Amino acid sequence: MSQDNAKRRAAEAAIEHVNGGDVLGVGTGSTVNIFIDLLAEKRIRLEATVSSSDASSERLERHGYKVVDLNSAGTLDLYIDGADEADPHLRLIKGGGGALTREKIVAEASRRFVCIVDESKCVKRLGEFPLPIEVIPMARSMVARKLVAMGGQPKLREGCTTDNGNVILDVTGLELTDPIKVEAELNQFPGIVTVGLFARRGADLLIVGSADGVDTRRAGS
Ligand code: 5RP
Repeated sequence: MSQDNAKRRAAEAAIEHVNGGDVLGVGTGSTVNIFIDLLAEKRIRLEATVSSSDASSERLERHGYKVVDLNSAGTLDLYIDGADEADPHLRLIKGGGGALTREKIVAEASRRFVCIVDESKCVKRLGEFPLPIEVIPMARSMVARKLVAMGGQPKLREGCTTDNGNVILDVTGLELTDPIKVEAELNQFPGIVTVGLFARRGADLLIVGSADGVDTRRAGS
């Protein structure tokens, strides 16, 4: 089975968690694109959506869904998003699509975060996928030096400006055995806007699509 079909299985299973009439938090990426298309295909009616990227907003609006500002939406019941890696504790690496900052905001604003992935994203330990870090442009070199001092190898994502006007450093080689600690340490470093570790607030539910079907994993189980 192709990776796209596995993503579709996960996205289809996530639809079951959506209540018609919700204001729904919507993430970014190819799995979420499938999810958005399915929402429309299945004619799921929503009061509105809060989106984590311009790309997802455009796709939602193209299907006729209303996209509202988080400030006017308050706390959301549900956020659906993909991930680049997920560990058994449902801690994630995100940001492969460059939308990590808004993704982290919408995840934080939501009571439940349902993460949808194909099985290739499931890892025993986070860190194979280069960790995306969104950085204020003027701090790029300083932050890169900090990452090198921590044992990492940062690489500027060429040609990428985030929706917030910042750059992304993709970092390999960092020791991520305690992802909550690394997330906290990097978060407080000047110039770093967001680190793509979703460890303090990981997913509440992970839906994994594969050739065998769909496996649903809960945080803490
Ligand atoms: C975007 C993300 C995506 O959720 C992540 O990159 C997974 O994307 P895809 O569904 O295309 O594999 O974090 O910033």
